[in-house]
Amino acid sequence: MRVGLLTGGGDCPGLNAVIRAVVRKGVQDHAYDFIGYRDGWRGPLQGSASRLDIPAVRGILPRGGTILGSSRTNPLKEPDGVRRIRENLAKDEVDALIVIGGEDTLGVAARLHEEHGVRCVGVPKTIDNDLSATDYTFGFDTAVNIATEAIDRLHTTAESHMRVLVVEVMGRHAGWIALHSGLAGGANVILVPEQRFDLDEVCGWVTSRFRASYAPIVVVAEGAMPKDGDLVLKDAAAHDSFGHVRLSGVGEWLAKEIESRTGKEARTTVLGHVQRGGTPSAFDRWLATRFGLHAIAAVRDGDYGRMVALRGPDVVRVPLGEATARLKTVPDALYAEARTFFG
Ligand code: F6P
Repeated sequence: MRVGLLTGGGDCPGLNAVIRAVVRKGVQDHAYDFIGYRDGWRGPLQGSASRLDIPAVRGILPRGGTILGSSRTNPLKEPDGVRRIRENLAKDEVDALIVIGGEDTLGVAARLHEEHGVRCVGVPKTIDNDLSATDYTFGFDTAVNIATEAIDRLHTTAESHMRVLVVEVMGRHAGWIALHSGLAGGANVILVPEQRFDLDEVCGWVTSRFRASYAPIVVVAEGAMPKDGDLVLKDAAAHDSFGHVRLSGVGEWLAKEIESRTGKEARTTVLGHVQRGGTPSAFDRWLATRFGLHAIAAVRDGDYGRMVALRGPDVVRVPLGEATARLKTVPDALYAEARTFFG
C-alpha cells in the first residue's frame, strides 16, 4: 500500500504534526509506503513528489509551516487538471491520498473522490476555524494565543499614550480569532464579520473607555463590515485561484474614522501572517497528531471520501462533502456574551 500526502491552502501550525503522525503510524503498524507531494495540489498536478519515511519526519512535531510546502493551486481550473492528477497518482503507484487542507483544498478532494473515484481522506486545517463539520481545526488555538499575546502587549503601550489601538486579525469571513482573542485579551470592542458594526456605537464605546481613564483596544476581524458599507479592502483587485479576495484594510480605515470622529489619537496593528507562523500550541499539536492517527485508520479501513473531525472529545469521520458544505460562523449568542465587556 502506498499513501500520498499533501498540504494545501494557507499554511498553519500543526501541519507537520499531522504528517509525522500519519507516517509514524502507517509505517510502524501497517508497513505502508509514503510519498509527499509538494506545494498542495500543484504536486500531483506536476508530478512533484518525494519519499517520506520515519527519519524524514523526525523532529518536525514542534515546527510551524509544512515540510511539504503549500499553495492555493486549484487543479480544477487547469486544462486537463484532473487527468494529469490521475496520471501522476497512477505513475507514482499511489493507492490513497491524505489531503490536509481547508475549505478549498478539501473541496477539490471531495470532487476528485465523488466525480473521479480518487481515494481521498481529508484532514481539516485552518487558523480561521470556519469548517462546520469539526468543533475545531488545528492552527486556530495557536493563532488565538498569538493574537492574545499581542493584545496584552498593546494594552500597556495604549495606556502609556492614552491612544486607541485597533488590532486587525485574520479569520476571513468568520470572526472566531477576533472573538476568542478579544475576549481573552480584554478588548473593549470586538468586531466580527457576522455582525455589521455601527461606527457611532464603536466611537461611543471608545469614548466611554477614555472617560473611565483607560485606553481602548479595538479588535477587528479582517472581514468585518460597517453597517452602511461593504468590505474595506487595501487591494480590492487581489484574488487567489479559488476566487477569494485578499482581505485586510479595515483596521487602518477604522483607526482613521475613530480618530476623526472622537478626536482621540488612534493607531493600527495588523497582525497578518504572524498568526500563522511559528511553533504550534500544545492543543494544536495534540489535535493534529490525533487527526493524523485517525486519517491513517480511515485509509486502513478503506473508508474513502471522508474527513476526520473533532466532535466533543472524539475524532469521528464525516463525508468530505460535508466538510465544505457550510461555513461555521460566530453565533449571535456568543457575540452577545462578548458585548458585556464592550466600552
Ligand atoms: O485562511 C487562512 C488565512 O490566513 C485567512 O485568515 C486570510 O484571509 C488568508 O488566509 C490570507 O491568505 P494569504 O496567505 O494568501 O495571504
